[in-house]
Amino acid sequence: MKLVVFCLFAVCCTSLASTTANRKFERKLQEILRLVDTVKKQQHTKLDLHTPPQNIEDCCCLSALKCFQANMGVHFNISEKYQGKLYSSLNHTLTVNGLTLNNSRNTECTCGDCDLHPKTNATVFFSRLRTFIEKGLTRLGTV
Ligand SMILES: *[C@@H]1O[C@H](CO)[C@@H](O)[C@H](O)[C@H]1NC(C)=O
Ligand SMILES: *[C@@H]1O[C@H](CO)[C@@H](O)[C@H](O)[C@H]1NC(C)=O
Ligand SMILES: *[C@@H]1O[C@H](CO)[C@@H](O)[C@H](O)[C@H]1NC(C)=O
Ligand SMILES: *[C@@H]1O[C@H](CO)[C@@H](O)[C@H](O)[C@H]1NC(C)=O
Repeated sequence: MKLVVFCLFAVCCTSLASTTANRKFERKLQEILRLVDTVKKQQHTKLDLHTPPQNIEDCCCLSALKCFQANMGVHFNISEKYQGKLYSSLNHTLTVNGLTLNNSRNTECTCGDCDLHPKTNATVFFSRLRTFIEKGLTRLGTV
């Protein structure tokens, strides 16, 4: 009996812990979406951003994330409040882990080099970044 209770307790704790972790990931990703919306509204005339494609394979999430961040660092003013926040949020542990939860075993796929992604303007860049984060949120909801 005691063993059964203990096991139930352990199962509960495990699933609770993973839910809590997911909540943290979700909060971070939602914060990023808000930042993207804020930054998107600022005037941007940037044209030559190497932008990851619309459909990013799960195993390329980390590579895409790095590419988005690298572009922000080079082409945007990260001394500005929101652009700076967005830039550092993209490198946050919660963001990285939240977006790459299950991907450790899919390491065999090849992701395009950041510099080889076709260039787009800021409008497309932020819209792709938004889609990318939204997909991560959807994935979290199903784990
Ligand atoms: C970047 O943002 C900071 C803070 O808003 C501002 O003082 C600075 O002039 C901006 N630099 C450029 C190049 O726009
Ligand atoms: C991202 O964060 C890691 C550690 O958290 C750091 O080593 C790395 O330099 C950062 N990368 C960028 C591009 O800021
Ligand atoms: C993540 O892993 C869990 C458990 O291993 C699995 O059920 C789920 O389908 C995976 N999700 C994705 C997006 O691969
Ligand atoms: C950005 O590029 C897209 C696709 O090429 C185009 O439809 C859009 O009008 C451009 N936006 C701006 C502000 O130049």
